[in-house]
Formats: sequence, structure tokens, C-alpha cells
Amino acid sequence: MIVASDIADLGQGLASLHTRAQKIAFVPTMGNLHAGHLALVEQAHHHADAVVASIFVNPMQFAAHEDLSTYPRTLEADLTALETAGVDLVFTPSDREIYPEGSASHTAIHVPSLGDALCGKDRPGHFDGVCTVVYKLFQLVKPDVAVFGEKDLQQLLIIKKMVGDLGLPIEIQSGATQRAEDGLALSSRNHYLSAAERAIAPKLFSTLTACAESLPSASPNSVETLLASSRGELESAGFALDYFELRGLPLLQHVSDATQDCALFVAARLGQTRLIDNIQLLNR
Ligand code: PAJ
Repeated sequence: MIVASDIADLGQGLASLHTRAQKIAFVPTMGNLHAGHLALVEQAHHHADAVVASIFVNPMQFAAHEDLSTYPRTLEADLTALETAGVDLVFTPSDREIYPEGSASHTAIHVPSLGDALCGKDRPGHFDGVCTVVYKLFQLVKPDVAVFGEKDLQQLLIIKKMVGDLGLPIEIQSGATQRAEDGLALSSRNHYLSAAERAIAPKLFSTLTACAESLPSASPNSVETLLASSRGELESAGFALDYFELRGLPLLQHVSDATQDCALFVAARLGQTRLIDNIQLLNR
């Protein structure tokens, strides 16, 4: 596995991959890898002859008060995991490599509406940071395919919109959310949970699941009641809710029932830790 920590090494590494690989798939990450990331790598192998991953904790997508400085960084273990997963090249740039003049004054890509809803409302500028770094990484790696997780469904929809709007010649694939046995979606931020919070955390997915199961048979009048009772259950369990909402796909518009493709989205805080999850309800 080639490890490139700067753009020059990345260029050389890609040139050597292109001598033997026709199609390149890319999995961008912020590291601290778990089975969710590795499932995306496995999927990437199905779409291409070579797989490139990146590990970059992107300062531009963190607000000043957020967890940039404490975000878990486990480079050695991550490299071992990626090598075992058969990744051909890993790009591990420094902040200076990506933002030579800092990220505050950097040109930003904004996806309106989709990027302003849900997490975009609670974390202003977050998706501008995500889109900007993903665009830059796409320009550097020039993959044929890129794979993103459905765990971050809003992020996935925003990336697809950016790729469509800017006419980037990259196919976007998605991978299902990988979960712990008790249902909690795997996330690097789960490490922040205390033992007591970790015991409560699975309630997020069980509440989401119960609500999603009741939705198809709910009349339009009862949908709001159903959502309100799910919100109440989570709050009683100790979560501080940012949102628990039913939104249409792929535009995230407000919907009053589940008769069209939609998803339940939740973001909730347990102590200092913000957890997100979702369930898609597809009418296919
Ligand atoms: P990160 O949180 O490291 O996630 C990298 C990729 O792994 C994303 O596509 C995310 O959706 C996916 N992922 C995370 N947890 C998952 C799980 N439990 N199951 C399946 N996939 C999962 O998302 C980011 O980094 C960043 O915003 C990034 C796109 C790299 C831009 O900085």
C-alpha cells in the first residue's frame, strides 16, 4: 500500500496505479476507522481495479466550538486496517497541504437548501466545509467512483447534488450503515460516550425503527403525533434533540406522510456527544 502524505507523492502514487488499473474508486474519511469505513472500502473494490482512501480531519467542516482538537486520531491503526482491507493508496495530507493559507479565507462550495436543512441548520457552514474538501480531494485523486456512507445520508445527498451541478465525471455510490449489535450506528464520536451514555445510545435507533415501522400505516393526520411521541421518548431517555424529522428524498423537503420516498432523520445529544442516524423509507 502506498502512503502519500503530500500532493506530489499522491501524484506519483496515482501514476503508478494508473499503469495497472483502469478504474479507480475513492473512499474519503477522517480516520479513526471502524467497520463502517471498511465496508465502504470493500464496496469500492467491487466498482474498480484500485482503491484510494484518504484520511484528513478537515478543519473547514468544524465550527470553532466543535471537537476538531479532540477528534480521535489513530493513524497507525488506520493504515494497518486499510492495508488489510486491500487499499492500494492512502492520502494523508496535512492541513497546510490542503489549505496552504488556512481554511477560514478559502473559497467555499455551498449547496443551497439541502446544505442548509437539518444538520446544516444546527451546524452552519459544516456542509460548505465538507463539499469544499471533497471537491478538492476529487480534483486531486480524480477517481472514477467515490463511495459514501448512508449513515450520513444528508452528506451523501449533498455530495450527489454537488457532483451533478458541477458536472464532475464521478459516479457516487453509497454503502449501508454499519451498526453495533445493539443497533447503534458505528461512529468515531461513539468513543466520547461514557458507559452510562453508551447504554442509552441504542435507544436512538430503536426509536427510529419503531417510528419507521408505524409510518406506512399512519394517516397523514397522525404522522405529526407519531413523530412527537418518538421525540418525547428520546427526551425521556436523556437525549437533547436537535431534530427528529421526516423528510422527502432526495431534496429533503418537508413531507406529511411516507407515501413518497422519504427518510426519518435524527440528531441528538447525549451529554457532550452529538449522534446522528436515519432510516430510509423507499416506496419501491
Ligand atoms: P467520516 O466521518 O470519517 O466518514 C467517512 C465515510 O464513512 C463517510 O462516507 C461516512 O458516511 C461513512 N461512515 C461513517 N460511519 C459509517 C457507518 N456506521 N456505516 C457506514 N458508513 C459510515 O464523513 C466524513 O468522514 C467527512 O465528512 C468526509 C466525507 C471525509 C469529508 O471530510
